[in-house]
Amino acid sequence: MTTNTINIKSLAIIGTGVMGMGIAQIAAQAGIQVLLFDAKMGAAAQGRKSLQTMLEKLTAKGKFTDAQLQSALANLIVIDDIANISTVDVVVEAIVENLEIKQQLFKQLESIVPTKTILATNTSSLAVTAIAANCTHPERVAGFHFFNPVPLMKIVEVIPGLSTHPSIVETLTALATRMGHLGVVAKDTPGFIVNHGGRAYGTEALKILGEGVASFEDIDRILREGAGFRMGPFELLDLTGIDVSHPVMESIYTQFYHEDRYRPHPLTRQMLIGKKLGRKVGEGFYQYTENKKQDGQKVTTDISQQPSFEVSASDTAITSVWIGADVVEDKQQLIDYLNANNINIDNGDKPQSDSLVLLAMYGEDTTNAAMRYHVNPKQAVAIDMLTDLSMHRTLMPSIVTQDKFVAQAYALFGKHSDKTISDNEKSIQATVGATLINESTGFVAQRVIAMVVNLGCDIALQGIASPDDIDNAVRLGLGYPYGPISWGDKLGAERILLILERIYGLTGDPRYRSSPWLQRRATLGISLFSQQSNY
Ligand code: NAI
Repeated sequence: MTTNTINIKSLAIIGTGVMGMGIAQIAAQAGIQVLLFDAKMGAAAQGRKSLQTMLEKLTAKGKFTDAQLQSALANLIVIDDIANISTVDVVVEAIVENLEIKQQLFKQLESIVPTKTILATNTSSLAVTAIAANCTHPERVAGFHFFNPVPLMKIVEVIPGLSTHPSIVETLTALATRMGHLGVVAKDTPGFIVNHGGRAYGTEALKILGEGVASFEDIDRILREGAGFRMGPFELLDLTGIDVSHPVMESIYTQFYHEDRYRPHPLTRQMLIGKKLGRKVGEGFYQYTENKKQDGQKVTTDISQQPSFEVSASDTAITSVWIGADVVEDKQQLIDYLNANNINIDNGDKPQSDSLVLLAMYGEDTTNAAMRYHVNPKQAVAIDMLTDLSMHRTLMPSIVTQDKFVAQAYALFGKHSDKTISDNEKSIQATVGATLINESTGFVAQRVIAMVVNLGCDIALQGIASPDDIDNAVRLGLGYPYGPISWGDKLGAERILLILERIYGLTGDPRYRSSPWLQRRATLGISLFSQQSNY
């Protein structure tokens, strides 16, 4: 096998379903000749026809020139006999996700193409090493994992199996760039980068729901409008389908030998059994009519109890506010906010008995924070300062906080106004206001973001990919506002570590133990991207 990367001129797609045709499209548009083969009679021709119709529509809309359309179409060639792929440079397999069938196909491919031909698999959940296991030349087999919809998801994971030659990785990464995608290199481990890095979001949200912290709608809202995720975790579970998501959660958990960080939740298993699969069946967490989410109609779960309070208008009049904050910048932000709203600040060492006690802490519930600050928990309401105060806020009274103090905090921070928030990638319509949650060890956003960052750090620790590739893959593959590594740097590794250490200390759940990658960099005060030289 040569160590030089080869210039790819032709490619064969085996399996012309959703993924195969998506890959075919971007390859053809990049000037590569694409042979289309599918085991089902007529499927490749049908796939090409649908793609042609779609490309013609996009051309009519001005997305492509007529010349670009004609050139792409000329590159898409349907073949009825798999033997016709014998001269291509690369074969990309995108058939059914079944190890035995894929292994058989790879054996068959080896009998058709010469040894210099690269054999790539688009598998999302099978080990590349296993797919290549029966091949005579496993050194030319690699994963080339695209995401759906391929033309829009500009990321592809390049996965060497145990025997893959490094030149194959280089060639596929260069090919990805040529096709307008970012190729990121991932070790052949369960979930590779993206499906591994995505294990924190849904599982932690489910755990929060399971603990009765807030309704799924409120959790979605906090994470969308407070933390900046494009979709709430329960909206996402409904969209992907519980029949897809739950088995993936179980599979990654099992493949990593019951690592607690990936622990699935019994609720999605129950929903799977009860066939509440999400959008596709009209009911999951939310209900859907004609594929549209029905607001206000929700599946009642006995584990979601929203806090409620009844107070008279006079109770919301604030005498003064005493602030307890773990981080000085948070305290200053709250002082500025109170000053801007003409609220008296109680500067005493101890709060007055009629002061609202505002606690800005990390990785703790309100009861524990009140004890640590030596304040009366009946006066205490905690606020999550990990998320920006200009975005949707989360307020957490203790179990015993008096209604009037809850009402005061809500009146102060729950002022609703719509605003458009833009970050580096997008702009979202958010309601600045507040959500009241029940006691949670670490609020909602703190728990979820800390878990996302910690998982990204642990993927780096395990050497599955470089910090840059992890960051880009998770951001582009999952649509998170930031990659986990840069998010950790933005919010501060020390704060993330504090959240995890406190939650771990209070719950004893190994799920929350911090990754040594995070610990070391937080302790040294250096970027989470920092890598050690190899000695
Ligand atoms: P699909 O069901 O849309 O298409 C699969 C195609 O392969 C069908 O047209 C089928 O007739 C054909 N096929 C099945 N067995 C074959 C064989 N032995 N030889 C030739 N053709 C055969 O499936 P989809 O969604 O395109 O997935 C394909 C692969 O891509 C799977 O490995 C899947 O895990 C992976 N993948 C899927 C993603 C998705 O979101 N759908 C995302 C990333 C990877």
